[in-house]
Formats: sequence, C-alpha cells, structure tokens
Amino acid sequence: MSGWLLTMLCGLYDGFHLADIRDAVKNNKTSTSREVQTLDISLWRINSLETILTSTECNLHEFIDDIPQIFATDNLKTMSHKEETNGEKTHTLFDKFPMSSVNVSKDNMNEIVTLKSKCEELHTQIERLTKEKEEAFEEIERLKDQILSQSTYCTSLGAVLGNLTWRASRFPQIVDTWLSNFQSKIGEFLSIVNGTFGAFVDTYKSAFPPTSNVEYQFVMGLLGIVTNISASPEGREFLITNSSGTEFVQKLIKLMPELPLAPGTVSLKRLMLMILYNVSMNKTGLQYLLESRVEDTLSHCLDDEASSEEMQLLCLRVLQSVTYDLDKPKYIHNLITTIPIEKIEIMTSAKRSDISNAAKQVVKYLRHSQKITK
Ligand SMILES: *[C@@H]1O[C@H](CO)[C@@H](O)[C@H](O)[C@H]1NC(C)=O
Ligand SMILES: *[C@@H]1O[C@H](CO)[C@@H](O)[C@H](O)[C@H]1NC(C)=O
Ligand SMILES: *[C@@H]1O[C@H](CO)[C@@H](O)[C@H](O)[C@H]1NC(C)=O
Ligand SMILES: *[C@@H]1O[C@H](CO)[C@@H](O)[C@H](O)[C@H]1NC(C)=O
Ligand SMILES: *[C@@H]1O[C@H](CO)[C@@H](O)[C@H](O)[C@H]1NC(C)=O
Ligand SMILES: *[C@@H]1O[C@H](CO)[C@@H](O)[C@H](O)[C@H]1NC(C)=O
Ligand SMILES: *[C@@H]1O[C@H](CO)[C@@H](O)[C@H](O)[C@H]1NC(C)=O
Ligand SMILES: *[C@@H]1O[C@H](CO)[C@@H](O)[C@H](O)[C@H]1NC(C)=O
Repeated sequence: MSGWLLTMLCGLYDGFHLADIRDAVKNNKTSTSREVQTLDISLWRINSLETILTSTECNLHEFIDDIPQIFATDNLKTMSHKEETNGEKTHTLFDKFPMSSVNVSKDNMNEIVTLKSKCEELHTQIERLTKEKEEAFEEIERLKDQILSQSTYCTSLGAVLGNLTWRASRFPQIVDTWLSNFQSKIGEFLSIVNGTFGAFVDTYKSAFPPTSNVEYQFVMGLLGIVTNISASPEGREFLITNSSGTEFVQKLIKLMPELPLAPGTVSLKRLMLMILYNVSMNKTGLQYLLESRVEDTLSHCLDDEASSEEMQLLCLRVLQSVTYDLDKPKYIHNLITTIPIEKIEIMTSAKRSDISNAAKQVVKYLRHSQKITK
C-alpha cells in the first residue's frame, strides 16, 4: 500500500530536472520557439506539483524515514507491527493532503469516503466480535467447571447408591421382589449398565484408575448388582432376554481381554467371570455365550501368565460349564481349536484340589466332544 505511493512521488521529483533541460534547450540556437514553449508549459505544471509536494514534504520525510526500519528487521512479528504503524502514517499523510489542489475526480473522492466509512464500520464490528468472543470463552470455561463438578457429583452418588444396592442384592428375596414387581426398572438399570461399562473400559483401558477412584467404585457396584441378579434363574433369564442385558454380556466377553494389568482389574474380572458363569447355567444363555465366542476370552484368561490361581479357577469353572454336554459340531470345533488343552492338562496336577478337579473335568468334557465329531 505504501510502496506505490512512494514510487509515484519519486517520479514527480525526477521532473525537476526538466528545468535544467529547458535552459539547455533555450540556449541552443537551433531550438525553435515552439519547443521552448512546450517546455514552459511543462515547467508550469511541475511548479504547481511542487506546491503540493511542499505541503506533504513533512509527512513524506517521516514516512520515508520509517522505511529502512521496516525492512531492516527479519522478525515477522515486528514487521507486521511496523506495517500497522506505517499504515497509520499513510493514513495521516492522506488526511493532511490538500485535496483541493489535487486533480481527484469526484468519483474517486466519493469512493474514498465510502471506503473510509466502511472501514470504520468493520472496525466497530471487529471490536464487537472480539468482545463477544471473550465473553463466550469465559462462558465455556464456566460451563466446563460446572459439567466437571456435576459429573463428579453424579459419579459419587452412583458409587454410594451402587454400594448400598449391591449389599441389598445379596439377599435373593430382594432380587426376586425386583424381578416380580419392578421388572421395567431392571430393564432401565441394564440399559445404564450396558452404556456405563462400555464407556468406562473405553476410557480406562490404557491407564486403569486406582481402586479409590469413584468411577471405578461405581462400575464395580453396577457389576456386583448384575452378578447377584444373574445368580437367580429368573434373573439370568431376564438378563439374556432383554436386549440391553445381552449386549452387556457380549461386552463382558469382548472387553475382558482388553483390560490392563492393574490392582482394580482383578476384582472387576472376577465379577465378569461370575456373570458369565451364571449366564451359562441357562441353556439359552449358554448358546448366546458360544455364539459370542466366549472361548476366545477364556483362552486369553488361561494363557495369561499374570492370572492368579483364583482367576484360573474362575476361568476353569466357566469352561467346565461351557464344555459340559457339548453337541453342536460348530461349537466343538471352535472350542478345541481355541482352548489351550495342554495347559489345562498341566493344571490337572495342580496343588489346589479345586483347580485340579475342575481341570480334570474340562479335559474329560473336551475329549468326549472330540470323539463325537470324529
Ligand atoms: C541543439 O538542437 C539541435 C536540434 O534540436 C540538436 O541536434 C543539437 O544537438 C542541440 N545542440 C546542443 C548543444 O544541445
Ligand atoms: C483533470 O483530469 C481530467 C481527466 O482526468 C482532465 O480532463 C483535466 O484536464 C485535468 N485537469 C488538470 C488541471 O490537469
Ligand atoms: C462399599 O464401600 C465400602 C467402603 O467404601 C467398601 O469397603 C466395600 O467394599 C463396598 N462394598 C460394595 C459391595 O461395594
Ligand atoms: C452377590 O454377589 C457377591 C459378589 O459380588 C457374592 O459374594 C454373593 O454370594 C452374591 N449373592 C448371591 C445371593 O448370589
Ligand atoms: C429391556 O431393556 C430396555 C431398556 O434398554 C427396556 O426398554 C425394555 O422394556 C426391556 N425389555 C423387557 C422385556 O423388559
Ligand atoms: C452365580 O453367581 C453367584 C455369585 O454372585 C454365586 O454365588 C452362584 O453360585 C453362581 N452360580 C449359580 C448357579 O447361581
Ligand atoms: C433360560 O432362559 C430362557 C429365556 O431366555 C427361559 O425360557 C428358560 O426357562 C431358562 N431356562 C432355565 C433352565 O432357567
Ligand atoms: C449398549 O451400549 C452401547 C454403547 O456402549 C450402545 O451403542 C447400545 O445402543 C446399547 N444397547 C442397548 C440395547 O442399550
């Protein structure tokens, strides 16, 4: 913007050399009076321009003085700042420019006036938007805080109520009452369990929270209640009939191998395996487990070097229940190709009798199934 103005003014300065040329031409005896006259008109024009220039000289010097500073620096930030300052100077230059002595057409004048008011309009708009943006930003921060404290409140509430309800659900008559009188509430509850459990594992599978975490306690409470609901025949029947219930069972199977090694995951896995065991007690439930490839999860659990004896026993119990009286060739094939039979054979000589007995039964059931398919 300032570049073109400078070039234009420098061009005018060059015009003053015409005065010397005029003298030279006048002194040349061969020059015609017509040539001298043409030069005189040029000189008159130049003089009127000189008047304009004198009035702007002050501003111009200021303007030119700044230029080396603008280009002297490589710092882009400083430069853009200087350009801004420079823009102001150009503006001042225009303001002081004696418009009356310049041949500016009316159209141009109008255009400048329009642009100026437009510019002022935009400036006001920018100021307004900047203010609005700042206010919106403060509002976002405030709402973030509010959401955080509300979610902390909800989770604490859930953890406390979960703890109490889990204790209550230990009494079979309470679960019976729920199922016979408040079945729709159990449906709503399973819908919440299905959503919460998935979100919890997704959030924490890479960095599991400590057992003191309220979200962890909340999820533990939910799973504990489902475990006790599934302990009764009516409870597991409802669990595998309700769509939220079946989706939750599928999540148990799918997400268990994804849980990291952490103090809290052992208790969580124990509840998960108990639910799977209880569900396998129902024929429909057992078929659902086999359709969902429960053998992948059990194989992972048995192969896991970090698995405790208790965890191994729980896995063997589910496997025992799943392999009992298998008759569908598809399921037999899936189990035999997935379950580490050699490992279970080693377990048959474990010190703990409950482990060795469970392992012996699993081996027996698997061998029996193998015979059927041959
Ligand atoms: C005088 O003018 C003539 C024609 O305009 C030109 O050819 C000649 O070189 C000029 N002489 C001087 C000394 O400028
Ligand atoms: C001003 O400009 C117009 C056209 O742009 C031209 O016709 C007129 O002669 C100019 N006047 C002067 C004093 O130069
Ligand atoms: C309930 O909370 C207590 C104390 O926080 C804890 O020791 C216990 O394991 C919890 N029990 C259940 C069933 O959630
Ligand atoms: C309820 O679940 C707990 C484990 O969460 C278990 O120890 C208890 O035996 C269960 N009660 C019934 C009636 O199944
Ligand atoms: C199963 O749970 C859903 C909520 O996900 C509920 O709307 C539905 O009524 C329940 N089904 C039965 C049979 O209770
Ligand atoms: C179901 O799970 C509970 C633990 O919550 C357990 O006490 C019970 O023995 C399990 N099995 C059956 C068939 O109920
Ligand atoms: C298993 O659940 C189905 C419903 O899914 C039910 O019809 C059946 O009676 C249940 N069987 C047992 C043994 O509880
Ligand atoms: C179960 O939870 C998942 C999210 O983890 C959700 O997409 C799905 O709709 C839920 N299903 C039911 C029946 O509630």
